[in-house]
Amino acid sequence: MRVLVTGGAGYIGSISVERLLEAGHEVVVLDSLVTGHRESVPAGAELVVGSVGDHQAVGRLLRDHGIEAVLHCAARSLVGQSLAEPGLYYQENVVGGVALLNTMRDVGVSRIVFSSTAAVYGVPTSTPIGEDAVTRPINPYGATKLAFEEALRWYGVACGMRAVSLRYFNVAGASPTLGERHDPETHLIPNMLKACLDGPPLTVFGADYPTHDGTAIRDYIHVLDLADAHLAALELTASHPPGLEICNLGSGSGFSVLEVLAAAESVVGRPVPRVIGERRSGDPPVLVASNQRAAERLGWSPVRGTLNEMIGSAWERLRPPV
Ligand SMILES: NC(=O)c1ccc[n+]([C@@H]2O[C@H](COP(=O)([O-])OP(=O)(O)OC[C@H]3O[C@@H](n4cnc5c(N)ncnc54)[C@H](O)[C@@H]3O)[C@@H](O)[C@H]2O)c1
Repeated sequence: MRVLVTGGAGYIGSISVERLLEAGHEVVVLDSLVTGHRESVPAGAELVVGSVGDHQAVGRLLRDHGIEAVLHCAARSLVGQSLAEPGLYYQENVVGGVALLNTMRDVGVSRIVFSSTAAVYGVPTSTPIGEDAVTRPINPYGATKLAFEEALRWYGVACGMRAVSLRYFNVAGASPTLGERHDPETHLIPNMLKACLDGPPLTVFGADYPTHDGTAIRDYIHVLDLADAHLAALELTASHPPGLEICNLGSGSGFSVLEVLAAAESVVGRPVPRVIGERRSGDPPVLVASNQRAAERLGWSPVRGTLNEMIGSAWERLRPPV
């Protein structure tokens, strides 16, 4: 299959490109490099620097490379920034995304897999969270991801788009060659590991939640498992009728912040400097996915579910050479 990966110079996109190449597919990356890194694009994939919203350039790319399916990972994805600059998030994630759909429609490419997020659920009323749970995002980031999902649904009706939206929970870990390189970094595991190296101490946001140890519980998924799910979802779009399929991608169970800290300390072999801070507003005590639908529709379930695998692989990418 000839696949366009938008955002393929970013964390999740680049590792998904590696996986697609490994599976024998032809891959072109479209990335504006706004948060991605040119050197993260795996050898074997061509990088086109540009924006998903550029109708002419993307149309040329789709035609010239005979693209059959799109893996759409490109997005702005910082919750705090989205609250400060909602317009940027609507422009890039919704307007830019819809421009991509129009270009695909015009060129006749109908298969798309979308990087969505658990943030579409907002503060859920129960866990594990199924795909039919109420979606009530509490920040513009989640709202723009949900808006694009809705667009996908209507493009299915209007022009036969065949879409799978994957709602990721907390993505972690690294491949043997590529890892997480966000700036600023807002994710727990890389920030823990940086605290062990030369970063500031880790802030634990809230230790008075109604959980077994007082810290928030989240569902973590290894980035390599995510890359496998992308492949399965791309394959599904070949046979799926027009419309939108939505699947959560998570492990179906969770770890508390203190459990993740303990695992990081055992991987690194020293204490993680930390301070206990206040809860962040809108952070629920527990966020865990139901991953039953992904098993049924994609034939996918995570196989690298231990904290040791996730933290260990991330540490391999970050730690100073010995
Ligand atoms: N990392 C996570 O835990 C997580 C969780 C849920 C959902 N997601 C989603 O997964 C996707 C990838 O996340 P990531 O962590 O790899 O982020 P990332 O910032 O590392 O990658 C995003 C990539 O998209 C590119 N990009 C942004 N806007 C673009 C545009 N308009 N045109 C072309 N390229 C553009 C960036 O340069 C970057 O390379 C995002 O859509 C994000 O919302 C990530």
